[in-house]
Amino acid sequence: MNAIDLRSDTVSHPTPEMREAMASAPVGDDVYGEDPTVNALQEEAAAMLGKEAALFVVSGTMGNLTSVLSHCRRGDEMILGKDSHIFQYEAGGAAAYGGVHPNTISVLEDGTFDLAEIRANIRSDNPHMPVTRLLCIENTQSFRMGAPLKPDFISAAADLAHEHGLRVHIDGARLFNAAAALQLPASDLVKDADSVSVCLSKGLCAPVGSIVAGSRDFIARAHRIRKSLGGGMRQAGIVAAAGLIALRDMTRRLHEDHETARALAEGLAALPYIEIDLSAVKTNIIFFRLMDDAPFTPETLSARLKTEYNILMRPYIQAHTNFRLVTHYWIKREHVDQVIEAMRALLTAPAYEQIASD
Ligand SMILES: Cc1ncc(COP(=O)(O)O)c(C=O)c1O
Repeated sequence: MNAIDLRSDTVSHPTPEMREAMASAPVGDDVYGEDPTVNALQEEAAAMLGKEAALFVVSGTMGNLTSVLSHCRRGDEMILGKDSHIFQYEAGGAAAYGGVHPNTISVLEDGTFDLAEIRANIRSDNPHMPVTRLLCIENTQSFRMGAPLKPDFISAAADLAHEHGLRVHIDGARLFNAAAALQLPASDLVKDADSVSVCLSKGLCAPVGSIVAGSRDFIARAHRIRKSLGGGMRQAGIVAAAGLIALRDMTRRLHEDHETARALAEGLAALPYIEIDLSAVKTNIIFFRLMDDAPFTPETLSARLKTEYNILMRPYIQAHTNFRLVTHYWIKREHVDQVIEAMRALLTAPAYEQIASD
């Protein structure tokens, strides 16, 4: 990758080892269940996540949608965070294709929910109301600086949900980042959940694909739903081969991305016009604020970084911050130094030059 691309970890490319494994992967027709590489991926993923079975799906969005539709019937309700990916960025798929009614609650600063708020939103048995069927939890919590949620919160939320007959789904697009940050096996973070979806792309660098895991019965339902969504793939072992490397190798190095994110955040904190909460940097996602009296708007700074330094960072409004940066395999320590130097050069250049360029 030539540009220093901090817009997201979704921009990560497959590693050379992945490309090699893809070229020589044994394949079969996965709709017949005959692709040995997909089968190996599903078995390894289920074991790593401590679940009975797993299913390879096209994307994180398909993993979440398949899970929600496997748990809920039309007219059922799911409780989920107002700032969750499922609610904000998945095109309303659960409502569009499953008739599932979203009931949103606040996501706290540390990425958790207030248990009393979950409780207050579970409906009583009343024919005027939808049936509350599902609680969705996101880990890491993307829009809380990628906050990793600890097992004690997940257990407490899941116990509450289960006591009231709800099922629990974890959107673990970056579950392995949470596991790396908390130094726990990923299975500890999903042991109380009925289903989990995990992305093999993003920080794990596979070009395509996610895993959904749960009980054998849940995966049997998910399998049928995946097919109905057009997600039955044929010789998918070509991409599953990269997924196996993602699980086996890439999960072990995510702490490096977290260290890179911290170095980046500390470098930014030392620059003028930047406001950043260093205590919130726990995984690979950073939000910061370019202050109102800065010589550039977020859009102009982003444009100058791109054209003059080949650095990609996108303005992103979230609460009082206006930039989001995400580190990944292709962002190395020397890139952090280049980014900080470029930002310093722009933010401390003589005022007349900045005004002339705006
Ligand atoms: C928290 C979270 N969940 C789900 C997804 C969806 O993944 P995909 O882009 O593979 O559909 C994303 C994507 O960025 C995400 O950040």
